[in-house]
Amino acid sequence: MISKIISSAINGISGYIVNVEVDISQGLPSFDIVGLPDSSIRESKERVRSAIKNSNIEFPIKKITINLAPASTKKEGPSFDLPIAVGILNSIGILNNTHTSDKFFCGELSLDGCIKPVSGILPMVHNAYKKGIKKFIIPKENLSEACLIHNIQVMGVSSILELIHNLKHNLNIIKTKKSNNLIHQEVDEYNDFSDVKGQESVKRALEITVSGSHNIVLIGPPGSGKTMMAKRLPSIMPYLTFEESLEITKIYSVCELIDNKNSLIKKRPFRSPHHTISYSALTGGGRIPKPGEISLAHNGILFLDELPEFHRNVLEVLRQPLEDNYITISRANSTVTYPSNFMLVASMNPCPCGYYGSSNKCTCSSNEISKYLNKVSGPLLDRIDIQVESSKINYDDLESNKKSESSKSIKNRVINAQKIQQERYKNTNINFNSELSAKDIEKYCKLSKESNDLLKQAFESMNLSIRAYHKILKVARTIADIENTENISPIHIAEAIQYRSLDRKYWS
Ligand SMILES: Nc1ncnc2c1ncn2[C@@H]1O[C@H](COP(=O)(O)OP(=O)(O)OP(=O)(O)O)[C@@H](O)[C@H]1O
Ligand SMILES: [Mg+2]
Repeated sequence: MISKIISSAINGISGYIVNVEVDISQGLPSFDIVGLPDSSIRESKERVRSAIKNSNIEFPIKKITINLAPASTKKEGPSFDLPIAVGILNSIGILNNTHTSDKFFCGELSLDGCIKPVSGILPMVHNAYKKGIKKFIIPKENLSEACLIHNIQVMGVSSILELIHNLKHNLNIIKTKKSNNLIHQEVDEYNDFSDVKGQESVKRALEITVSGSHNIVLIGPPGSGKTMMAKRLPSIMPYLTFEESLEITKIYSVCELIDNKNSLIKKRPFRSPHHTISYSALTGGGRIPKPGEISLAHNGILFLDELPEFHRNVLEVLRQPLEDNYITISRANSTVTYPSNFMLVASMNPCPCGYYGSSNKCTCSSNEISKYLNKVSGPLLDRIDIQVESSKINYDDLESNKKSESSKSIKNRVINAQKIQQERYKNTNINFNSELSAKDIEKYCKLSKESNDLLKQAFESMNLSIRAYHKILKVARTIADIENTENISPIHIAEAIQYRSLDRKYWS
């Protein structure tokens, strides 16, 4: 008898339906799995056999064939253990079609018949729900993740015997409700901009960066507060919407970074990988592919502290995702795509000793300085919209009792500037000024003659690339939005040009 069980596999961070077909027939006893399984699925035979036997159910000594359809895609991971076991239980009459049809099964088995959690439950359940499936049987420990999808019925099970009992008696079914779109956000009270004394120009640049979702590099001497300010950036970013949270949670689900109590990610990601990070840890990949840091920073910030200390080839891989907002990894027989729409924030000293350009303490030779700076390539620097210098703050600023502006009040301006962008781009697929293409720039960043003359002069005298020219226009658009004016005036252009001037100071 053949039974068909609905399950799912993952490609990137999207699930796709896999039908697990189980055929038990007379013949020499065997147990074969076909349909491009990887080695962990082939090992599933041993787990399923022992789990059924150790649940005091007689394992059929017959010819068992399992097919994972569609047979053309490679399947990975142990999540098919449970659907295979359910298919066998169905075929030998312990369960029947009324218990299993139209239901989704997924889970790993241990030899004693317990059901263990698997990675990627959220994208798998979300996709199956979109395909019309409403009932889900999953490991108990993945329950809260699946409950993020509304209007479905979920049963969390922890062993084969519990599964059989619950299915036969329709027990322990949770009906998920429509989720509230407003998420209770977690606020980090310890990282507030009110702690940062002085540095008004850097704070202004950071506000512009977040408002238009641009990229920024902070350059300055040691101890000038670069790391301190970068760490405070999440506190001025708008709260996540439910859709954004869900997208981030799917990525964390595939990486097994979700604990049962805290299933929905409610904080904007702030990823700050160490400079020794490898190429594949940054971009994602591996034998069983997993998203890397650039995807874990999706809808949040990727902070690269001490930028020139990163290996140059590791930095170069950022060039494509910075332009496209996703990364595609090609493997022997498949490709996976992960979203990577992050804001790049980098910080660096201008030379090995750190004091070049800011005080006469610098002890580096010009050769050492250019070697250090050249670790950051021209094309990467060209992709960064805003370059800003954080200079050593003076004693008066440090001693002053004047309280600096709080994150909350900066955030209000950011939210307003983003609302203007949402309104302007509401019928397009653009979210922020930083995403404007060359064609969009012509449409949305119209300049007066005066502004145009200023930009022309800068373009010629600063020998700017076309990309830099476009970036100046996008940043100027954001500056105008912060001021709530539709026209980009020369003063906005001038400020945006100033944010492209450090490469001339340091790199030429
Ligand atoms: N503007 C500031 N207001 C208040 N405290 C500051 C300021 N700048 C620096 N500090 C203090 O100095 C410490 C060091 O700053 P931080 O680590 O951010 O410097 P940095 O610029 O990243 O230096 P490095 O180049 O060595 O990494 C901070 O933890 C903070 O206590
Ligand atoms: Mg630092």
